[in-house]
Amino acid sequence: MTVIAGRRISPQNLGSAYDRFTVTPYAGALGAVIEGVDLSQDLDDATIAEIRRALIENQVIFFRGQDFTPEQHLAFAKRFGTLNQHDQVKGMEEYPDIIEVRQEPTDTRNFGGAWHGDVTYLPEPPLGSILYAREVPPVGGDTLWSNLYLAYEDLSPGYRAMIDPLTVVHTPALIYGTKSMDWSKDSSMNSSPTEAAHYEVEHPLVRTHPESGRKLFYVSGAYTPHFKDQTEEESAPIIDYLMYQATREPFTCRWRWQKGDVAFWDNRATLHYALNDYHGHLRVMHRVTINGERPAR
Ligand code: SIN
Repeated sequence: MTVIAGRRISPQNLGSAYDRFTVTPYAGALGAVIEGVDLSQDLDDATIAEIRRALIENQVIFFRGQDFTPEQHLAFAKRFGTLNQHDQVKGMEEYPDIIEVRQEPTDTRNFGGAWHGDVTYLPEPPLGSILYAREVPPVGGDTLWSNLYLAYEDLSPGYRAMIDPLTVVHTPALIYGTKSMDWSKDSSMNSSPTEAAHYEVEHPLVRTHPESGRKLFYVSGAYTPHFKDQTEEESAPIIDYLMYQATREPFTCRWRWQKGDVAFWDNRATLHYALNDYHGHLRVMHRVTINGERPAR
């Protein structure tokens, strides 16, 4: 496979300049740092529209040095759509729309520690998530994202033609079902194995992004165990290859968190991975997730 690293701008988003803030590309494949906007403020519609465009063009956008309350975090997220309450992880007591991604110094398991998209097993998977760093370890705890457009576009025409018609089954069962590891034993996440996680949803493997118009393949680690009408064993060679392709280094970026950082990713065009390399230290992030739409070919 020829890996052509580097972002490409979609026909709908021609990469025109931004008026409200500066947008600096962060890595060759995806990501941009936005400077000159305070997310705690009630931002005007034009600023929100530019943030949305920056998200679609860069797949993940980062803001440094933000200081906002849970209410302000929720208010900002609501400008992009309705909010999603995680069906398998309980939200914060006072703020059920916020998941506290918390790792205590004694925890051994981390949340998000494998390549995945957030809750892709929903009939209408999220548009994106907004993650705010409240406590970060002195070193480690980085998050990586990958650009699913580039991963798809880099495939040979023959391979794309083979995968284009496939339908893939998404399910929370392997992570949150009765045979999964119990989060309450080795982590601070508020989730326990449940029968309710044993459901399946079908999505087109190759979807067209509703805003950029670009195509990508929509696999999501343990949430996508097999194709429709195929066993896991039969599906594995293609799914494993697509996960490998989706997470090759030239298609990724890696963010080193500082307290007060915000990352906002397009969950329809990226996978992400939270590193678990800071044992003995506290890391606390607040995640708000915005509802999306049913994927279409
Ligand atoms: C997640 O998968 O949403 C967690 C990401 C992180 O904690 O870096």
